[in-house]
Amino acid sequence: MPGGALDGRCVVIVGASAGVGAATARAASAAGATVITGARSIAQLEALAAQAPEPGRIVAVACDVTDQASVDAFAAAVDAAAPEGIDALLVTVGVTHLAPMRDLEPEALRRILDTNLVGPHAVVRALVPSLAPDGRVGCCSSNAVGAPMPGLGAYLASKAGLDLALDLWRLDHPELALTRIVVGPTVTEAAAAWDPELSAAYFDRWFGEGYFDGVTPVEAEVVADALVAWLAAAEVPAELDLFARLNVTS
Ligand SMILES: NC(=O)c1ccc[n+]([C@@H]2O[C@H](COP(=O)([O-])OP(=O)(O)OC[C@H]3O[C@@H](n4cnc5c(N)ncnc54)[C@H](OP(=O)(O)O)[C@@H]3O)[C@@H](O)[C@H]2O)c1
Repeated sequence: MPGGALDGRCVVIVGASAGVGAATARAASAAGATVITGARSIAQLEALAAQAPEPGRIVAVACDVTDQASVDAFAAAVDAAAPEGIDALLVTVGVTHLAPMRDLEPEALRRILDTNLVGPHAVVRALVPSLAPDGRVGCCSSNAVGAPMPGLGAYLASKAGLDLALDLWRLDHPELALTRIVVGPTVTEAAAAWDPELSAAYFDRWFGEGYFDGVTPVEAEVVADALVAWLAAAEVPAELDLFARLNVTS
């Protein structure tokens, strides 16, 4: 499909088997990019690849960001698929966990930190050498880091850590075009594993205490379109606040 905003670009999306990552892979390939997708669920990535506008324009590669050998194998597969380098790395990986702090088992906290903080660091570190000279990197954080919601202690600690890690990446490597992408409430399956009773209690509390006042959730496709615009833009901002742009309605 010639004439797309991302014609000829090669984009890597890690966390692409579901939600925002999958929607962005679809939108970026529709805009002309070749998209190399990573996540643990290879079957879901292959199903996504089967929806590509042309064969080979979405490539499925298994990647578990908590496993260094898997990240290294993913980076090697990216280099094999894109020997001239990649134009962008987008990390949409994220896992959530709902629990009051006293019930947050250290092992659960470790798992969330490993996926949401250590994982993106490992992926960025492994793929920076594959970036084309004007390549860009984006990592998805959360608007709730700035307005912490009770029950999300593990998740928000991990995202706050990620935000700081991205600042440190920028301080140590100012030449890297790196964007913190602030995602707000988006309709995905991210909360599907939450205990229904606990989830209902927390949603009552969040609505009752005003956490969602003036905030409207958006579809993953809306976020994906904004991410395609970020991929296509000439300038790479330090922060892309999609929450302020897409979710705040009053
Ligand atoms: N949805 C929201 O309301 C919301 C709000 C604020 C911020 N965010 C952030 O926005 C981003 C996208 O969220 P989403 O709702 O689209 O999430 P999602 O639908 O739950 O998808 C998360 C993705 O992360 C991947 N993932 C999880 N663990 C992984 C691992 N160990 N290795 C590799 N991939 C892994 C999942 O794939 P596999 O399970 O196949 O590995 C999946 O593709 C996340 O960073 C999230 O924290 C979302």
